[in-house]
Amino acid sequence: MDQQTLRRLIGEKAEEVNRLLAHALPEEKGENAEVLRAMSYSTEAGGKRLRPLILLHVGDLYGADRKLTEPFAVALELIHTYSLVHDDLPAMDNDDLRRGKPTTHKVFGEGMAVLAGDGLLNYAYETALEAFRHANDQEGTDRVVQALEVLMKNAGVHGMIGGQCADLMAEKEEPASPADTVLYIHEHKTAAMMESAFQIGAILGGASAEDTENLKQIATDVGVAFQIRDDILDIEGDSTLLGKPVGSDIEEGKLTFPAVSGMEKAKAEVERRTDHALSLLGTLSVQDAFLQALIVSLTGREY
Ligand code: IPE
Ligand code: IPE
Ligand code: MG
Ligand code: MG
Ligand code: MG
Repeated sequence: MDQQTLRRLIGEKAEEVNRLLAHALPEEKGENAEVLRAMSYSTEAGGKRLRPLILLHVGDLYGADRKLTEPFAVALELIHTYSLVHDDLPAMDNDDLRRGKPTTHKVFGEGMAVLAGDGLLNYAYETALEAFRHANDQEGTDRVVQALEVLMKNAGVHGMIGGQCADLMAEKEEPASPADTVLYIHEHKTAAMMESAFQIGAILGGASAEDTENLKQIATDVGVAFQIRDDILDIEGDSTLLGKPVGSDIEEGKLTFPAVSGMEKAKAEVERRTDHALSLLGTLSVQDAFLQALIVSLTGREY
């Protein structure tokens, strides 16, 4: 697939996600309007919408019902957005710019940013639950339960939150085995959410256990490569393009892949993991040029 086609498809799919998000976000009125405004602000600030667009695309590949995949795509982006709102707080990474705009706590204050994150997480689950209404039979219901389990676990203490925990701990004290710890951090804080993106559509479409497992492995490679690239961009990226600060990791004393292994090895690892993901992609029962081109494009992404 040529670059122009890839860019056009990504743009169309991200727009589709934006429409779903705009439709799903609660109306900003009532005594709680401020937290609802902070939730919309962080969600609608921008963002590549990668996770939900991958979820929807994989779902389409496996013939999943859109009425099942769409609530999950929205939920996944809301959870991701919550993780960013909290990640930027002074108590965590202390960043002032996100998605090209002042961070949620800069605009609404820290207390409201904490609540907006909490609100996004809970509202995500409320949204995902809507899929049950469209599960027509026992098989559909079972698939929704399995998808919910994947969504919740990957966002939870043994997933993204676990990775964020190790990320914060490593700031305070050099771990005994930095290479192992940085891998734990990347697999959990980032790859876990990618697993939801790659697996949920397949589960809802009734993919085989083998394909579902291979999609998990693909997501691990893509997710770790994505976070290593993020670490690289924090050193040599352009803040205007990224829509977030550069130099934040060094300032905060983060344990990153380039810090542990050096820039050259970090770049080589992005390539190695991408190649591995692509070879696994070739073993799936469905073949798809878009996913292949998307995964390749992430290795050299500038934002
Ligand atoms: C940022 O994710 C956090 C990481 C896991 C590196 P994205 O780079 O997908 O951020 P948005 O959603 O496009 O803003
Ligand atoms: C964050 O990793 C991953 C999350 C779970 C939010 P980073 O802290 O490196 O993400 P950025 O660079 O702030 O987007
Ligand atoms: Mg962080
Ligand atoms: Mg951060
Ligand atoms: Mg980063």
